[in-house]
Amino acid sequence: TTALTILGIESSCDDTAAAVLRINGSDAEILSSVVAGQTELHADFGGVVPEIAARAHAERVDICVEDALQRSGLPLDQIDAIAVTAGPGLIGGVLAGVMCAKGLALATGKPLIGINHLAGHALTPRLTDGLDFPYLLLLVSGGHCQFLLVEGPDNFRRLGGTIDDAPGEAFDKTAKLLGLPQPGGPAVEREATKGDPRRFPLPRPLLDRPGCDMSFSGLKTALLRARDAVVEEKGGITVQDRADLCAAFQLAVVDILHEKSRRALIEYLALAPSAPAFAVAGGVAANGPIRTALTQLAAQMGANFVAPPLALCTDNAAMIAFAGYEALQNGQISGLDLSARPRWPL
Ligand code: KG4
Ligand code: ZN
Repeated sequence: TTALTILGIESSCDDTAAAVLRINGSDAEILSSVVAGQTELHADFGGVVPEIAARAHAERVDICVEDALQRSGLPLDQIDAIAVTAGPGLIGGVLAGVMCAKGLALATGKPLIGINHLAGHALTPRLTDGLDFPYLLLLVSGGHCQFLLVEGPDNFRRLGGTIDDAPGEAFDKTAKLLGLPQPGGPAVEREATKGDPRRFPLPRPLLDRPGCDMSFSGLKTALLRARDAVVEEKGGITVQDRADLCAAFQLAVVDILHEKSRRALIEYLALAPSAPAFAVAGGVAANGPIRTALTQLAAQMGANFVAPPLALCTDNAAMIAFAGYEALQNGQISGLDLSARPRWPL
């Protein structure tokens, strides 16, 4: 086989990213991967502001691509294909990436491949660990939470997911409520190590219902009430109160993800995969106690637990380039009429 070099572009949420990936048979090498985050641009607003995000992507996407090419050591004419996130996500951001990719495809005459962002996350364990189909994936980030049965490069079965907020969003809101910095996940995890998770009993929404659906918004409301009760009683919250609230919140998330993962694993293992694997992706997969719980669960159930390196778990363009490679192998190429799809279910 001859080597293929793919340029990937990602701009669907609050990271502008470009990467160059070279694949030669079963050998994949990330030649460069550039990510320009926007955390500071949205810090004052308690969430990603679509208009601000769109402008930043439009300003930065060309620079990211140039940077990625330069770091890869390859000129544009040695790129074999251009893969770009075409959705789902914030329309303004997705458009910035898609327009950039179209321009490059038009200029070079190379194939353009529109990629579903979620497929990018879902296929990453194949890039990092060479997983074979089918495997089970839990995608947990600030915007997503779902179990996917990955049966082929373009074949995903959703076993369940959140019916409201994503866990990362809940971590971020918890941090905000307790006066901790953003992104909330790492801050809450740090505080939780000093807290007693049993002091504030928080609910585990949907845990008693069958299936793999999850809910996190009730948890957030319960946390708010617990905090307000403390404030009412003492006129404020102490460092210890805060640590206990963080610990209670995190344990509730761990319990929900653990139980729903157990059920998803049962469904997956019923397919009798020859090398069972349970993979995680998304920023929340960085959480220590969540990782530990899922690692133990997978081991108990006889599945190999796979957690790609964090830089490839969170939003990046190497995963888009890789999904582009898989699409190309499958003969899936988009035309220059590729359109941005803000809503694009897998
Ligand atoms: O995948 P990601 O970088 O971006 C998208 O949401 O697309 O995930 C970011 C999310 C944020 O909500 C952040 O608070 C959360 O992942 N996160 C964590 C941890 N590190 C990041 N959540 C819990 N524990 C962590 N250690
Ligand atoms: Zn993502």
